[in-house]
Amino acid sequence: MKRISVVGTGYVGLVVGTCMADFGRQVICLDKNESIISDLNKGVVPIFEPGLEDIIERNLYYKRLEFTADSAYAIENAEVIFVAVGTPPLEDGDVDLQYVFAVADEIGQLMNGYKTVVMKSTVPVGTAGLIRQRIEKQLELRGVAYGFDVVSNPEFLREGAAVYDFTHPDRIVLGVENDRALRVMEDVYRVLFLNDTPFEITDNETAEMIKYASNAFLAVKISYINEIANLCDRAGADVHKVAKAMGRDGRISPKFLHPGPGYGGSCFPKDTKALARLGRALGSPVHLIEQAIVSNENQIVKMVDKVLSAVGDLKEKKIALLGLTFKPKTDDIREAPALAIMERLIEAGALMRVFDPEGMQNTMKRYGHLDMAITYCQNEYEACEGADALIIATEWHQFRYMDLPRIKSHMDGNYFFDLRNVYERREVEIFGFEYHCVGRPKGS
Ligand SMILES: NC(=O)c1ccc[n+]([C@@H]2O[C@H](COP(=O)([O-])OP(=O)(O)OC[C@H]3O[C@@H](n4cnc5c(N)ncnc54)[C@H](O)[C@@H]3O)[C@@H](O)[C@H]2O)c1
Repeated sequence: MKRISVVGTGYVGLVVGTCMADFGRQVICLDKNESIISDLNKGVVPIFEPGLEDIIERNLYYKRLEFTADSAYAIENAEVIFVAVGTPPLEDGDVDLQYVFAVADEIGQLMNGYKTVVMKSTVPVGTAGLIRQRIEKQLELRGVAYGFDVVSNPEFLREGAAVYDFTHPDRIVLGVENDRALRVMEDVYRVLFLNDTPFEITDNETAEMIKYASNAFLAVKISYINEIANLCDRAGADVHKVAKAMGRDGRISPKFLHPGPGYGGSCFPKDTKALARLGRALGSPVHLIEQAIVSNENQIVKMVDKVLSAVGDLKEKKIALLGLTFKPKTDDIREAPALAIMERLIEAGALMRVFDPEGMQNTMKRYGHLDMAITYCQNEYEACEGADALIIATEWHQFRYMDLPRIKSHMDGNYFFDLRNVYERREVEIFGFEYHCVGRPKGS
């Protein structure tokens, strides 16, 4: 049976490696960050992803899963190498491919026989070809001629539901160059083949484009409903009822029709920008996506404006911010709308009292320099102590069922900004709050 290595043990690589081991494979997970590897070897999981810790523990116990920082060990001992390192955005919106290229170079330097190199990282169209060239160059420098294939296998998992998504995908996309690579991938995904998962087999470039086109489409859908919500605010309509009725149309579907402070996370913001850059570079601008990027940035401004126009001068005002991560059930704060809002409120002079069930550590790490303006609290009730206003920025379950009289009794002011529309106006106003939400001016 072919051994699998997964390079990069972040939100994607750790799930891919662990779930592959759970499918019965022998898996080596490689990360250059030695402290992550040493934690993982002690059973300490560096990210919060529901269900993942138990599966890691089980597969460590059965010795199907190994963690190492030794590239040679991981590359020499696997025939299939998944690449799941980060592809963060550069200042200009382009994709920073340095981590992906570093892995390609290492594979070329260390490989000792045929390898299938599987790109899980989200990479611009054409990157598989560049990876191939880099590996070939290293082989040439070594004067050896091992065979290899580069497969594009973009990942669609959602943080917070990553284990389920990886093991129950809507589809698996495989960009392959030849039958040999396809046979290897069919074997790798045998469990999912047997489960009748649809497989989309195509070339590298098309597979790479499918990932960007899918993410950008969802980003456009979110921006669309946000703009409709903003219009509802002016027009006196209820965006929830609009979205619900729209979603009943099978051609539209109810998913991703939830208005709020805009999309965030490590994927949509950077992937939309990358696709827009690609469009410009190839002389075929994708105006719709460019507009969604602008709309998403405006949405943050609109949320801050809601607070400013209700509360007025924010100098020394205490604001409780509930939810810091970009979505619930993750500790990931990358591009989180909550934090973009927080930064602007601090700029306007506000003193923040923040709480998130899983995102506190990452937030403290990033905002250590703003200690004077941010108080980190133990729970939502402590965050509301003495607050003039409360903002729900991320819809963690525990914020959906708060003891509102208790919250009110802790607060000095009565402003309640429900940026995820999790409450009904009546149930909040009854306790003396001034309720503000997104696109429900009458508040159903
Ligand atoms: N996070 C998601 O929900 C998601 C979903 C689908 C696709 N993706 C894509 O998957 C890729 C990975 O995303 P992520 O969120 O898991 O990133 P991440 O930042 O959480 O993890 C990347 C890991 O790679 C490691 N790494 C970097 N260079 C390395 C090297 N040369 N050798 C070994 N390890 C190295 C880092 O130390 C880090 O632990 C990105 O391209 C992303 O766009 C992410």
